[in-house]
Amino acid sequence: MDDYQVRPAVEQDLDAIVALWKEFMKHQTGIDPRLKVRADGEPHFRTWAAEALSLPRRTIFVAHSPSGELVGYTLVIIASNPPVFEPAEYGYIQDAFVLESFRGKGIGWKLTQAALAWFKEQGLAHAMLHVLDKNERGIAFWRQAGFDSFLHNRRLELI
Ligand SMILES: CC(C)(COP(=O)(O)OP(=O)(O)OC[C@H]1O[C@@H](n2cnc3c(N)ncnc32)[C@H](O)[C@@H]1OP(=O)(O)O)[C@@H](O)C(=O)NCCC(=O)NCCS
Repeated sequence: MDDYQVRPAVEQDLDAIVALWKEFMKHQTGIDPRLKVRADGEPHFRTWAAEALSLPRRTIFVAHSPSGELVGYTLVIIASNPPVFEPAEYGYIQDAFVLESFRGKGIGWKLTQAALAWFKEQGLAHAMLHVLDKNERGIAFWRQAGFDSFLHNRRLELI
């Protein structure tokens, strides 16, 4: 696991991050086809990820092999609560992904620790994320990482 290091993403990583995101989306939509990626999802994600490299309220950490190949990433943001809840802001883990053949080596753990450390540096008191109900491995991973069950999302098809 020490062979794989985590660092903040830089502009030169963008193509590789978009490629990882595409694999992440394949994984997520394969778990639950009700989750659908828009035809123009990729360019939107690219813009969003590019902004994360410069905007103060988003950031991306990447995991790389000794030769520099990117094998995983996490994209995290500072999210705002509606103005009736405390605290005003919290850390939100939007994406977390490790290529299948590199899973189970502690890479997701390292990415998550980097994200949580960044949240703490920003003065945030808690972190949140969404995980698909059918993503058993993801649910187990987040539980191991210390995330409690909190909100339960419900969905009803109308058409
Ligand atoms: C979820 C995901 C990011 C986890 O990444 P990973 O690299 O496979 O996970 P890790 O190898 O870091 O963690 C695996 C295990 O080691 C534990 N672990 C790893 N390093 C550790 C450390 N230093 N200390 C304590 N526990 C550690 C993890 O908690 C976990 O425990 P378990 O195997 O006993 O359940 C990865 O499986 C993935 O990309 N899945 C597909 C996409 C996905 O579902 N993402 C989440 C969407 S919400």
